[in-house]
Amino acid sequence: MWSHGNVDKDSLIPIYHQIAQILKEYIHSNKLGDDDLMPSERELCEAFDTSRMTVRQAVDLLVNEELLVRRKGKGTFVKMPKLRQHLTTLTSFTVDMTSQGMVPTSQMICCKIVVATRDVASRLNLQAGDKVIQIERVRLANGRPHAFERSFLLYPEAILVLDEDFTNRSLYHFLCERCGMKLVKAKELIEVTFCPDEICELLLIAKRSHTFHMERLTYDYLNRPVEYVVSYYCIDKFKFEVELDLEARKTL
Ligand code: GLP
Repeated sequence: MWSHGNVDKDSLIPIYHQIAQILKEYIHSNKLGDDDLMPSERELCEAFDTSRMTVRQAVDLLVNEELLVRRKGKGTFVKMPKLRQHLTTLTSFTVDMTSQGMVPTSQMICCKIVVATRDVASRLNLQAGDKVIQIERVRLANGRPHAFERSFLLYPEAILVLDEDFTNRSLYHFLCERCGMKLVKAKELIEVTFCPDEICELLLIAKRSHTFHMERLTYDYLNRPVEYVVSYYCIDKFKFEVELDLEARKTL
């Protein structure tokens, strides 16, 4: 917790600026996220030994920066900026999160050998009835659920994943380092759909919520599909970024 000792009243930096900076650090170091309640203006006045107007100016600054949001009669809440997903590079959830200052973890739901359905088999160029490895994970950033992923991997090529705990490690990193796979490209389809009820529960979102539904087929350097993934990404936590280049057509 901060105290008014952190504010330098002799500094040239206005006090409300200093308070805003302290609040930012507080949000960051306590890993506060969407909808977390901030201390009231009264509590902040006491903590910083300053007027309500100064505290209000500090909060205004963060509201303008879209880091906080005021809700009438309820208080001031943290509002996390949406995370960016680049659509033109093959990256893992781990890399996507760490590159944006978030700490990725996973809640393991299952990791087992299953018989491929006709659909999964055809995507991975297998025969219906062949075995595959199925991994289901809730993907968290700073301890909060952000996505659910159900991956199907080639068996026995990825057999080592069965003995691994992916709570704190990247599947892609493991596949490359330990299973000797060279993942080089993926095709992904993204659409907005209703999220199945059981997955809403895991993501701690209301039933019938919309999510980004993604299907990814990941290929190795031999152009062989090695991973088929179905994911549900929380719609309020992500936005997609793509670079548009004139190169391919040369003219508009
Ligand atoms: C992203 C992709 C998934 C992929 C995962 C691997 O989230 N949408 O298709 O399976 O990355 O992530 P990690 O290597 O962090 O386990």
